[in-house]
Amino acid sequence: MPFDLLIRNATVVDGTGAPRFGADIGVRGGRVEAVGALAKEEADAEIDASGLVAAPGFIDAHTHDDRLMLSAPDMAPKVSQGVTTVIAGNCGVSLAPAPRGMPRPVTPPIDLLDVEGGWFRFRTFADYVAALREQPAATNCALLVGHSMLRVQTMADLEQPASPAEIAQMRALVDEALEAGAIGVSTGLYYEPARAAPTEEVIEVCRPLSARRGLYCTHMRDEGDRVMEALEETFRIGRELGVPVVVSHHKVVGTPNYGRSAETLPLIERAMRSQRIGLDCYPYCASSTILTFDRTLTSAKTLVTWSQQHPEFSGMDLTAIAQQMGVGVREAVERLVPAGAIYFSMDEKDVQRILGFEHTMIGSDGLPHDAAPHPRLWGTFPRVLGHYARDANLFSLETAVHKMTGLTARTFGLADRGVLKPGYAADITLFDAGTIDAAATFENSIQPARGIAAVLVNGTPVWRDGRSTGERPGKVLRRG
Ligand code: ZN
Ligand code: CU
Repeated sequence: MPFDLLIRNATVVDGTGAPRFGADIGVRGGRVEAVGALAKEEADAEIDASGLVAAPGFIDAHTHDDRLMLSAPDMAPKVSQGVTTVIAGNCGVSLAPAPRGMPRPVTPPIDLLDVEGGWFRFRTFADYVAALREQPAATNCALLVGHSMLRVQTMADLEQPASPAEIAQMRALVDEALEAGAIGVSTGLYYEPARAAPTEEVIEVCRPLSARRGLYCTHMRDEGDRVMEALEETFRIGRELGVPVVVSHHKVVGTPNYGRSAETLPLIERAMRSQRIGLDCYPYCASSTILTFDRTLTSAKTLVTWSQQHPEFSGMDLTAIAQQMGVGVREAVERLVPAGAIYFSMDEKDVQRILGFEHTMIGSDGLPHDAAPHPRLWGTFPRVLGHYARDANLFSLETAVHKMTGLTARTFGLADRGVLKPGYAADITLFDAGTIDAAATFENSIQPARGIAAVLVNGTPVWRDGRSTGERPGKVLRRG
């Protein structure tokens, strides 16, 4: 019986970190069926991968694609860089559940998903999962439910710790989400809607994770002066619940903290001996989130990525905007919000040390609805493979691929993903290791990457020759 698809003459980098080898790849029924010398085999379709690397499709460990999967299901920013699975619902922000609907104006940073608010239409998490199954996206996804979203949906006053009754309501919503297919809970304890939540609230809200084998992902309370305390809080939550934790977009921000990844990584490594800890990182020394005046104070330079009041300033430097308005920076921020920004607030050496850390996964943290987004949205994975692995020689190609495939699948418990071998799902990315890199820049960030030849999701091509195929074979994945 012929294969559905035969990829011939590929250089396989299989996602485990093992050295590359030459092979053909036979795909049938959405799975990899054979990897080896298949010259005599036949197939309904063929791709000649001479000169190309075949890797497992990349898993984006950290996204805000909750709504993009429904509003732009081709997922061009992701499939164009070889991503075949996205982890959504991060930083305490998820599109569902919205039993109360969404009060306007939408509370920042939940407004990163939709500033108008009309997309917060799923009363239960199960309704959201059903919508993704009925109208699949081009990529697979695994979903987190956001603690800040739960707070907005259940609490009278976000500036207080949750009452026992509010905790019980949030816990019931977590249980419903996990039952419906969520793989865990995310928090954004740094952000205003969750800042008042004590550690004990988080633990009590997340209780269902223990019985349902979920995981806890966090945008920690502090990534600056108090980053060590924030790591300890994260580890405590994981220990008390007996669940794996993921430290989202690990970084140390603000000039006084430059170099402190030399403290955080050993702390993480030590804690990993007694509990399960993962972390992800994006390959840039600028962050991006909502615009607030406070955050500009620790940033060498601030670019505005969107503004509801003044969309014409998207992409511009905040200082230049303030000058043009003829006001100070604080006043300019007040006129622009709700808005988003890019903050240049990290040290390149820290970024490299964190990326190079053995246990670090790659996650984009891309913000797909920004008018002038951070280039990480379109460039993260090719930049790691090109700029950091090939050009800067931070690690081997095999290690780079492992950080975006096998390691990520293992951390999130995605059983049949992240490795290119028989029996696994046929999520496959073909790329040119000599030319791959991000094309997106801070000046011009909406750009498909260079060097991606073809991308398959569950055996179906979703990106070919520089464009989306229009196919949408994505599945909602659960923890295996
Ligand atoms: Zn975050
Ligand atoms: Cu995030």
